[in-house]
Formats: sequence, structure tokens, C-alpha cells
Amino acid sequence: MPNKKLRPQKRRRRSIIAFEMIRLDRTATEPLHEQLYRQIRDQLKSGRFSGGSSRLPSSRVLATDRGISRSTVRLALSKLHAEGYLQSKPGSGTFVANFLPERSLTADQPNTYQSIQRPVRISDRVKAIPDERVGNQFDLGATGAGPGVSLVASIPAVDEFPIAIWERLRAQVLAKKGVNLLRYSSNRGDVDLRKAIAAYLCDFRAARCHPDQIVIVAGMQQAMLISAMAVLNPGEAVWIEDPCYQQTRRVLGLAGVKVIPKAIDTDGIVIARSPKEPLPKMIYVTPSHQFPLGVTMSFQRRTDLLDFARTHNAFIFEDDYDAEFRFVGPPLPSLQGIDNASRVIYAGTVSKILCPSLRLGYVVAPEQLVDSFVKIRSAMDQHSSPIEQATLARFITEGFFLSHIKRMRKLYAERRDFFIKQFNELLGDRFTLQVPEAGLNIVAWLKREEDFPVIRRITSEIGVRPSALSFFCIQAKLKPAFVFGFAAWTRTQIRESLIKLTLALRNHGKDQNYGHRTR
Ligand SMILES: Cc1ncc(COP(=O)(O)O)c(C=O)c1O
Repeated sequence: MPNKKLRPQKRRRRSIIAFEMIRLDRTATEPLHEQLYRQIRDQLKSGRFSGGSSRLPSSRVLATDRGISRSTVRLALSKLHAEGYLQSKPGSGTFVANFLPERSLTADQPNTYQSIQRPVRISDRVKAIPDERVGNQFDLGATGAGPGVSLVASIPAVDEFPIAIWERLRAQVLAKKGVNLLRYSSNRGDVDLRKAIAAYLCDFRAARCHPDQIVIVAGMQQAMLISAMAVLNPGEAVWIEDPCYQQTRRVLGLAGVKVIPKAIDTDGIVIARSPKEPLPKMIYVTPSHQFPLGVTMSFQRRTDLLDFARTHNAFIFEDDYDAEFRFVGPPLPSLQGIDNASRVIYAGTVSKILCPSLRLGYVVAPEQLVDSFVKIRSAMDQHSSPIEQATLARFITEGFFLSHIKRMRKLYAERRDFFIKQFNELLGDRFTLQVPEAGLNIVAWLKREEDFPVIRRITSEIGVRPSALSFFCIQAKLKPAFVFGFAAWTRTQIRESLIKLTLALRNHGKDQNYGHRTR
């Protein structure tokens, strides 16, 4: 017999219902136990509590809380038991029943508004966001990838995140700064973090900035939204890359601006425009590593873009989301670093370097824009968590940030090489890989365009889930391709996923042939 004491205790998560809203009226003619019974029943019928896991307080606690006798409580609870609203679990307590009596669940539902069939009022702002998802599709986040799904684009290896170090630093900053980290805090961001980021950007991204130009934000998306809201009026034109990061279009839709897709060539975003095309007030670019095509903007295109922005009084939004992970040659300097006219709004994020759930990013605003940016941040949600900001500041100043980047760059380079080798061996007959110089993704172009619908269906069925390149296209008509992520999976997982995809495609081919022969 295994020793019970040695077995880890399995703690089940159970929420205890507080019943804070119960009001008992001692002057009413309705007996107290009836009032209690009725009010608890109505709360259970509201459907807010999950059957089987929501626990009722003990009769003693309920009696003390409400200032009534335990026998009154017991009378009310026994009636609820008898009617099937509650269930007892020996040794655990009294719980909301798994299935509440059905008739009573609908009995008191008001039906007055059901008869009025009006379309729901939704703002134009919502309609302007190009996002087809509904309901629980939002639970999977922007990548749309649930657990167990592999080779999804843009996902970093979060299992390599040094949680123990982070936790230690967090405990240290909490011990040192105490309640100061629990208060409302600077709308510009933690001062130590702004200093640390300014130093990092000057050293490693060749940026030219000082800490007062840094605004800490909740990731790249918020950086885009704040920038768009600070420099653009609704309806004004923004150029974006086509194909483009899907969240950029959604954010700009929310900002109510006019999105003008611009093609990408081998030098980066194409600046040439037709005379009818409105001049942009802002230009969104990913110069270090275009998402999703992977082009690095040439030096000539960078200077042309800066000249264009200066001439037409436009701002450039530089999304430097994954510049840290360059595998070929030295990291490229940022566009911000060669801008002499304060035209570039530079933004970075820790989503790829560390992990996306931190929701932390940074903007380097041209000096004349800083206060406007901060004003918007203040009106939006004030600031990011001071605890996480202070922890990140320590993480950077103590050298963990740089060592993590170095370690991950090496790991991603290995995974990239492994992916390429395995992919070409297994799937080289169907795809041509575009070997990336940087980043976490690889574009695989189809050799036969007609394979596209089948591959798209199969990848979604088997849970090996690259994105179709067309998902990121606005007007661009590119040859069919898929964007694979390789960074978040071990060699074994990469190999298994690629074998799974190869076999699924092969089996599909066999079914096809069989179908033809029998017809
Ligand atoms: C082009 C681009 N920018 C930014 C991000 C990350 O944004 P955030 O900081 O909002 O997570 C991504 C993530 O995939 C991206 O592809």
C-alpha cells in the first residue's frame, strides 16, 4: 500500500460562494428561512456559479455572517437540497448541483426584451476592425493556436524563459520598493526601466535617444495605437506594408484611419505612388525584418523613406519586433538611429525576446511627441504593472536580458537549421523554403499552386498549423505560401510535426489516386 502521507495532495480548485447580496428583513411576514432559501435559489438560478465546483459556506459561517441561527440556515439549505439545487460531498461540504432543476432555471427569466427584435447597436469603430473571429476563438489569442498545435508562426520558446530568475528579481524589487509598487504609477513608465531600455537601444540598436523619450507600453500593439491616436486624425492616410502583420491592420482600424497597402520589393516597402493615392501622415514599416516576407530594408530604401517622410511631413512607425534574432551578419542599426529630422517613432517589444504574456513594450518618441503619447496612455489605461516593470528593469541591468537574447539567438539558429534540413528532406518536393536571415518564421512557397487548398485543410486538421501567407495580404497577389514558425519547438517536436504533415499529405495523395482508379 503506498503511504498516503507521501502522495502529493491533489488540491482541487473550488470557489466559495460569498452570498454577499443576501438581505434578510426581520420585519417582513415571510419567515427568515424562506427569505434565505429564496434568495440563495435565485442566485444559483442566475447561472453565475459552476455546478460541482462552487462550494457553499458552512451553515455556521452563513449563520454568523447573516446574524441568524444555524437552524434557520439548515432549514433553508435542506429545502434547496430537496429541490436539487445543492449536493453534499462527504468530507468536502455542500456544492452547487451539477445540473440545476431545469424548469426553475428558466422560470423567472424576464422575457420582455425577447419580443423586441432590433439589431444590436455596434459602433462603426468595431466594424472597422478587420477581424472575423467570434466567441471562444478569441481565447486562443492573436495567433489562433491552442495547446498541442505546432509550427505556428511568431511564437517564441517561452519554455526557455528563466522563470526562477524572474521570480527572484520580482521578490527582490517587491522587498525593496514595497508598497511603492502597489500604487498608481508614472504614465511614462518606471524610471529605472526607461533608463535601462534607453541604454540598451543606444548600445544594441544604434538608436539615438535618452530615457525621457521612452514611454513604456503594453506591447507593440499599444505602441501602434498610441502613435496613431497621437499623430493622426480619423480618416487620415497611413501606409502599411502589404503583406502585413494582421494586428497592425486591426489596430489602425480601431484608430479609424485610412489604411493604404503598399507593396514590398527586395528593398522593402515601395515608396512610389500613383498621383491619386493620398499622401500618408504615417508609414508603418518593419525595416529590420519585414513581417511576414522577411525582407531587410536596404540602406538606400531607408534613406529614401526618411527623405520622403521629411518632405511630406509624415511620421514613420518603426516596428522593431524581432531584430534581436538575426542569424546572418551583425544586427542592423535601427532606422531611428539614422533619422536626423525626428520623423521616426521607434517601438520594440519583449514579446519575442522574453515572452508575449508580459505585455510590455517601449516606444522611443520624437521629443515633441512624448507628452502627447503619455497623455493618451494616461487616458487609456494609465500604465503597465509597476511590479513587472521594476522586475524587467532589474532583469536588464543585471545582465539577464542580454544573456537571454544571446542564448535564444543560438537556440533559434540551431532550430532554424534543423527545421530547414528536415523540411527539405521530407517536404522538399512540394515546397521551396526561403531561408530567413532573422526571426522566428520561415516562408515556404508552394511548388504547385493547386496544392494550396489541400495543404490548408490538412494543416488545420492535423494541428501542424503554419499560416497561409494570403492571411497577411491586403491587395498583394503573391504566389501561394505558408509561414511556418520553428522557434518554439524542440528538434523532436519539429521532426514529429513535419513527419505528421508529410504522412497526411501522402495519405491524401493515395486517397486521390484510389478515388480516380475506382471512378
Ligand atoms: C510585426 C510584429 N510586430 C509586433 C509583434 C508583437 O507585438 P506585441 O508586442 O503586441 O506582442 C509581432 C508578433 O508576432 C509581429 O509579428
